[in-house]
Amino acid sequence: MVKFSEISLDVDIPFERVPPGMHVRAFGVDYARIPDSQGGLLYLTKYGWPWRQSLRPGVWFAEGRYHREGQRLRGGTGTVYRLQVSEPGEPRVELVVKVSRFAEYVPLFMPSTLPPNLPPNLAEEAVFNSPFEEFGLIEDMRRSRFGPPELRMLTKRPLAIYSSPRRYKLWQLGRTEGRFHDYDLALQADQKDVDDEERVSLDIERQYIMLFGWVRGENAEDLEIAGELSREEVEELTSRVNDELDQKGFRILDNKPKHFILRRRPDGTLARRKGKLAYVQVDFELLQRTEAYRRHISHYDPSVVLHEESR
Ligand SMILES: Nc1ncnc2c1ncn2[C@@H]1O[C@H](COP(=O)(O)OP(=O)(O)OP(=O)(O)O)[C@@H](O)[C@H]1O
Ligand SMILES: [Mg+2]
Repeated sequence: MVKFSEISLDVDIPFERVPPGMHVRAFGVDYARIPDSQGGLLYLTKYGWPWRQSLRPGVWFAEGRYHREGQRLRGGTGTVYRLQVSEPGEPRVELVVKVSRFAEYVPLFMPSTLPPNLPPNLAEEAVFNSPFEEFGLIEDMRRSRFGPPELRMLTKRPLAIYSSPRRYKLWQLGRTEGRFHDYDLALQADQKDVDDEERVSLDIERQYIMLFGWVRGENAEDLEIAGELSREEVEELTSRVNDELDQKGFRILDNKPKHFILRRRPDGTLARRKGKLAYVQVDFELLQRTEAYRRHISHYDPSVVLHEESR
């Protein structure tokens, strides 16, 4: 068995060949799990692995760097920063650093953001995804196993999850034991066939920070404010996103134009595919599978449905 402490991030191996002592898997996503000298744990995905030198907590987390030097992304209700990292000898990487809000109370969101045709109790019962569930759902949506094969959902890239070593009181994190218990059960069910040393767990006293790739472009809300998209175009885009998510077997309870990033072509016009605005989605705290998709996957993985329906 390879000990974590013997593994340096300098190892020049492809992600698929990270040693067994380092490889873990949760909710269908593979990670390289790397402890740091402070007692934290960094979980790198295959998207984060090539950037591993820049994703080391010493680079973006230590001494509060992401909130000292990063740009706080305002307008949202969570704690989210944009940070550019350029380590000597490494390519520059633009990160989104987002503190997971799992097991916290979900602040009431506008009923208008709940996609139409959904029962209102979905909003009342909403819970934030835990970081591992969120990465699992994003990856499932990106892999796109359901719905029209030509329809692909573009998302920000999930690079890593960091379980920081500092311990907090529950009131500081806004968590309750009752809420945490449900997440823990879901993760335990997912990990039930995994050996102890490879098991992924959640610690109720620790903060979990997710790292994503920044998506270049402008969000649809800002484009409307700037007069570059009309109210009708933005409404049409929002309902198309809801519809496309549904076709692929997903929904986002607080789906809204600020979460859709649009790109420009070199001539300054907004990029389109087959005449329709191309968009990338960036907020998945409240991403869920639809009942139709849950039924579909329950044929080969009943545990997915079991724990999602217990929510
Ligand atoms: N990876 C990204 N690339 C580009 N823009 C982003 C990215 N992540 C976030 N943003 C921008 O920052 C805003 C705030 O981020 P995010 O939606 O993750 O925060 P939040 O606190 O969850 O917000 P909300 O209260 O809307 O749920 C987004 O609406 C989006 O416009
Ligand atoms: Mg959000």
